[in-house]
Amino acid sequence: MVLLEDIIVVKGLVKKFGKEVAVDGLDLTVKKGEIFGFLGPNGAGKTTAVRVISGLTSFSEGEVSVGGYDILKNPKEAKRLMGVVQQHISLDKDLTVRENMMHRAMTHKMPAGERKERIDELAGYIGLEEYLDRTIDSLSGGWKKRAAIVSSLLHRPTVLFLDEPTVGLDIQARRLIWSLIRKLNGEGTTVFLTSHYIEEVEALCDMVGIIHKGKLIAKGSPADLCRRIGSIAAEYLDPDRMMRYRYFSSKEDAEGFASSLGGGHKVLIRDTTLEDCFVELVGEKLGGE
Ligand SMILES: Nc1ncnc2c1ncn2[C@@H]1O[C@H](COP(=O)(O)OP(=O)(O)OP(=O)(O)O)[C@@H](O)[C@H]1O
Ligand SMILES: [Mg+2]
Repeated sequence: MVLLEDIIVVKGLVKKFGKEVAVDGLDLTVKKGEIFGFLGPNGAGKTTAVRVISGLTSFSEGEVSVGGYDILKNPKEAKRLMGVVQQHISLDKDLTVRENMMHRAMTHKMPAGERKERIDELAGYIGLEEYLDRTIDSLSGGWKKRAAIVSSLLHRPTVLFLDEPTVGLDIQARRLIWSLIRKLNGEGTTVFLTSHYIEEVEALCDMVGIIHKGKLIAKGSPADLCRRIGSIAAEYLDPDRMMRYRYFSSKEDAEGFASSLGGGHKVLIRDTTLEDCFVELVGEKLGGE
């Protein structure tokens, strides 16, 4: 069996804001070449974790390494491997899209001769060419996001962090970004993606981690997570007209349950989805508190 290299290693990570613990002892590994989906409810600590792992903010306890470089001991080497699209766009709003990109390219020490061609190539890929000479401030939210994504990719990062990359994007742009993510991944880029769009994570990710209150509560492939709660779902309305969900390891068990409910219940039996897993696993934690 080929053991894939762990390209992101996080051990016992704690990040506090004053008394508030945003990341609470996070242990996480991401393998080279994976598209890793990081899911969690609002405020779970996803953005904070991404910012810490990518070296954008400090942390209180723990260890973080990317590509074998410790983020505290070798921050330059670690950061050279990374591209980051933050949840809140961090481009200079008074500069044009191209000026921002040139600045990023220089920061990443891209050879001068390659910069223009790379900007044109990526801008062309997601239809940004006609916006290159407009200031960031003058763009709509979706075009700003596209500019941020292109800016993060110029230096061909080995590890790409995308914190909710497709929020506010129209459907065509979302599909283009998905294609771009797959293309980059096919060329060897490891992708760390946070998203609230389960269909996005389902479409793209080999591996999924669920974070809740700063802790990793589950990790596995979408199929693994579905098996964990039961791969077959039974969905029905209870007498109070509340939608209920139950999960089973086989269709026979689900059908047995449906017949046990008796007549008058309309039960839909279907495959369990990642959305079911998310709701169930986060719900279990809420229930257990
Ligand atoms: N700069 C900050 N100062 C104080 N508290 C912060 C700061 N940034 C984040 N937090 C807190 O840390 C916790 C985790 O926030 P974070 O933004 O990481 O969550 P998230 O999982 O990315 O949520 P969302 O899905 O809403 O983007 C929250 O309770 C938040 O209020
Ligand atoms: Mg966030």
